[in-house]
Amino acid sequence: MADSRDILVTSALPYANGSLHLGHLLETIQTDIWVRFQKAQQHNCLYVCADDAHGTAIMLKAEQQGITPEQLIEKIRSEHMADLDGFLVEFNNYHSTHSEENREISAEIYTRLRDNGHIASREISQLFDPEKEIFLADRYVKGTCPKCKAEDQYGDNCEVCSATYSPRDLINPFSTISGATPVEKQSTHFFFKLPEFQDMLKEWTTSGTLQPQIANKLGEWLEAGLQEWDISRDAPYFGFEIPGEPGKYFYVWLDAPIGYMASFKHYCDNNNVNFDDYWGKEATSELYHFIGKDIINFHGLFWPAMLESSGFRTPTAVYAHGFLTVNGAKMSKSRGTFITARTYLDHLDPEYLRYYFAAKLTSQVDDIDLNLEDFIARVNSDLVGKVVNIASRSAKFITKGNDGMMADTLHNPALFEHAVAKGSEIAAYYASREYSKAMREIMAIADATNEYFDSCEPWKLAKTEGKEQAVIDVASQCINLFKLIVTYLKPVLPNTAAKAAAFLNAPLDWPTDQQPLLSHQINKFKPLMTRVDKDKVDAMVDAQAKALAKEQKAASKNKPKTKTASSIEPLAAEISFDDFIKTDLRVAKIVKAEHVEGAKKLLKLTLDIGLDDTRQVFSGIKSQYQPEDLEGRLTVMVANLAPRKMKFGLSEGMVLAAADGNGIYLLEPHSGATPGLRVT
Ligand code: MSP
Ligand code: ZN
Repeated sequence: MADSRDILVTSALPYANGSLHLGHLLETIQTDIWVRFQKAQQHNCLYVCADDAHGTAIMLKAEQQGITPEQLIEKIRSEHMADLDGFLVEFNNYHSTHSEENREISAEIYTRLRDNGHIASREISQLFDPEKEIFLADRYVKGTCPKCKAEDQYGDNCEVCSATYSPRDLINPFSTISGATPVEKQSTHFFFKLPEFQDMLKEWTTSGTLQPQIANKLGEWLEAGLQEWDISRDAPYFGFEIPGEPGKYFYVWLDAPIGYMASFKHYCDNNNVNFDDYWGKEATSELYHFIGKDIINFHGLFWPAMLESSGFRTPTAVYAHGFLTVNGAKMSKSRGTFITARTYLDHLDPEYLRYYFAAKLTSQVDDIDLNLEDFIARVNSDLVGKVVNIASRSAKFITKGNDGMMADTLHNPALFEHAVAKGSEIAAYYASREYSKAMREIMAIADATNEYFDSCEPWKLAKTEGKEQAVIDVASQCINLFKLIVTYLKPVLPNTAAKAAAFLNAPLDWPTDQQPLLSHQINKFKPLMTRVDKDKVDAMVDAQAKALAKEQKAASKNKPKTKTASSIEPLAAEISFDDFIKTDLRVAKIVKAEHVEGAKKLLKLTLDIGLDDTRQVFSGIKSQYQPEDLEGRLTVMVANLAPRKMKFGLSEGMVLAAADGNGIYLLEPHSGATPGLRVT
């Protein structure tokens, strides 16, 4: 075996402004499996994380709840820790970015950057909420699209016509915080001079630190040229004040990754570990960050540049994963595909999900789908039907048949040796984060074991005079294979492995315990895992829907007033009948409704208006409607509108809908209307 390595591992720090959902768990479970595997290989592997506690969103949320940000982040941090513990994610430390350690290290890094000449400052002009007296990031400004006039669009792009613009171009802009009309205001900001690190980053990103796909993506950004990075925010802001700059705060993403160091520092101080052995310029230990694909620019550009320029080591590697979808759709509260960690834990065993994720995870950045039907089938077939089944059908022949004493030799040494030899292949898959391949190999051993059991027919032997020893031999062989299988699964299923170890009366330490148990006393078998019950999965989905409905009701009470939601829009200028009749409105049947790849708000509708050809219309109603719920329904279409070329294709008209701050409501004729009828 290779020498013991010193390894420090992190997962991205979840924001302290909401509950963890199964997407977060994809990441922490992926990381935890890797850490447990490294520990099993006798390496010194430490795993730290923290809550990301700073920023405007957290400040506003606390205010909404009538508590201080400190109270909010403490409450959320304990929830997060309980959730992660529930999923058997084992940290050496789970800290907060709002900690003394983080304050100190952030100040130190900033000071070094500044003293090394890597910080610039200049005045910039930004939108400002005069009522709330706060600068507004683009996402806190909404208004009417300057191009297509769609209302209630965010500050930088229109999700109806996909135009991009500056929040200053919006018609009737308003602050989503107070509803006030924003004004321009000047302020001094501080910038990290990222372009100075162009060469260093080119070298770093291409030196095996990143997955090829990610390295290519960052390569494109590097080619396009880097910009200075705005690292300051003005008060009021929840974060750390910049040393020597009263009223100026570090942007949350400046001190967030430093939170990795701070969490580890806290661990060092309590465990007598030398911080510099892991973070010093000359550190020989390894450092890995597990992150989602949405935050690679922070971890692949800003972060290594910051570390390099402030005299720390850079990460050994950054491992990005894809996004979790549920039943094929993006996790979305309105679509019932959003499941919190807590709701899951209230209904189901965490090891089901750990196994399901492991069975799907690769070293790539592809998205991963949690299909609930497939989840039930997969866990039941693999874990219960294959793995646990081996022990449950073999154990009684030894416990009842031989007082728990296993045979003194292996009945089929070749089969056992094959499974031992597979161990190094499986280890290599774990190490390279190809968990799905590892699971496939492990299940192949389970299949071979069940086939062996079936072909030996021990249940028949048990009824045959003089075959007592043969029965014990076959059952012992299976128990020994079971022991190997569970040892290989231990990084994924720590609880099941602990129960199996108690049953086997033997430790399951890989790779030291790959020897067979011979003339060994085992304990009575107790069921290790029960089948996933479909009713419980349904109950989980129901409970989540109820919880979200409750949350939305509460949130709508707190909703800041916006111009569109609080007032009735004034009537438009008078028109003549002749003006009106120019608009050809037709009853239309929605024959097909589809999601549009890459469009957040649009659905693509195929409409039958009684003519030979159908019409295609893109409509910004996705947040309210499931495509399958629309198909077959009638609505009203503006049929003689000039076709418009959109990013996603040609839109040949509009369907009629009303909207307010809470929803979008498609018009539907009374029953009896048929496609093609003119509406007058
Ligand atoms: N606070 C930042 C990270 C700072 S790290 C110095 C953040 N927080 S987050 O709560 O939005 O996300 C935390 C991690 O969860 C990120 O790596 C993110 O990619 C991941 N995920 C969030 N939603 C996810 C899915 N639906 N699927 C998989 N991972 C997801 O970003
Ligand atoms: Zn628009």
